[in-house]
Amino acid sequence: MGRLLITGGTGYIGSHAAVVLSKIGHDVVLYDNLSNSSRCVLENLNLIVGRQIPFVKGDVRDTELLISTLSAQGIDAVIHFAGLKAVGESVEQPVKYYGNNVQGSISLLQAMQAVQVKTLVFSSSATVYGEPQYLPLDERHPIRATNPYGRSKLYVEQMLSDVVSADAAWRIACLRYFNPVGAHESGLIGERPNGVPNNLMPYIIQVAAGQRPYLNVFGNDYSSTDGTGVRDYIHVMDLADGHAAALDFLDKTSGWHAINLGTGKGYSVLEVIKACEKATGRKVPYKIAARRAGDVAACYADPAKASERLNWTAKRSLDDMCHSSWRFQQKNRLRVTP
Ligand code: NAD
Ligand code: UFG
Repeated sequence: MGRLLITGGTGYIGSHAAVVLSKIGHDVVLYDNLSNSSRCVLENLNLIVGRQIPFVKGDVRDTELLISTLSAQGIDAVIHFAGLKAVGESVEQPVKYYGNNVQGSISLLQAMQAVQVKTLVFSSSATVYGEPQYLPLDERHPIRATNPYGRSKLYVEQMLSDVVSADAAWRIACLRYFNPVGAHESGLIGERPNGVPNNLMPYIIQVAAGQRPYLNVFGNDYSSTDGTGVRDYIHVMDLADGHAAALDFLDKTSGWHAINLGTGKGYSVLEVIKACEKATGRKVPYKIAARRAGDVAACYADPAKASERLNWTAKRSLDDMCHSSWRFQQKNRLRVTP
């Protein structure tokens, strides 16, 4: 079992991956600048895994710190989650996004090259497919991002492909996540959106908790069965398992690989509302609002490549996603208002 550096390791997906990878025997070291997470996550992670996980507070753009961390910690492979992810903000502040996501990835590659660590799993996104030309989306679908966030992912993917072409010793998996939701079963770690949530699940959960009066459903005139947008929601613990599977795969294979991590099943906004009402036992009032700019009608994965190459498929249901999101919300609310 190798020693892993997890950049963005105290973030939403990184923290869940840290749990899964620690539990199966990897030694993990977390590296994060805490720009969108906090040390509390670390404490809760330590509680879940039952030991202290090493943590380095640092920025991925700090190449020197990365080099010293990789060598001092004896790292064999890196999982690169660190980055910014808000589509709207990326349109307003493109330089910030290219700086964190692209420059940050270049800095990481420079550091890895300097210490000859050549195994990397990169957090990519289904956003690289742009407006779907057909569904389900397989990895051969044309790539076309429509905003700076998406382009930052696309540029990094292409850069990584060039790195492998130049040096066949590299092993790189670009995992294209669909819509990660849910939380660890303990309710100790989960997604903590800053301010008003952009994404559906955290918004619904806050409505169910009475923290917001209703949900705006962005459009009910799409060509889905009930007219609302359809997405491939994937439980964050399934996603975390996918990273363990990707590392096993890279152990046996070299080259550059783009692989979807999704369930293959799409749910509409109204279906998610219904599932959350069932899981929470609360009403989720909603109003139909205008379509949100940049939204596509439907987006879901063809997960066949992940099944064939990684021997991985998503196992958890939409009910599991809603239940665990609710448990995380309740547990955290209890902690702030005892
Ligand atoms: P997150 O914001 O919860 O986690 C990202 C972590 O990276 C945070 O802890 C943040 O503090 C850290 N970070 C940001 N910039 C950094 C920098 N320059 N140096 C060091 N640390 C830095 O986000 P997440 O949802 O866990 O996403 C993880 C990755 O997955 C991101 O790259 C994101 O683009 C990608 N992704 C996320 C989704 C999603 O819906 N959550 C979908 C597709 C892809
Ligand atoms: N939605 C609502 N009301 C809300 C929020 C969302 O109706 O308040 C709808 C959206 O219109 C969409 C669905 O719920 O139909 C899912 O929306 P999310 O914002 O949760 O997710 P997206 O699919 O729009 O975006 C996600 C990631 C992006 C990524 C994109 C493409 O958040 O980072 O997938 O992969 F770029």
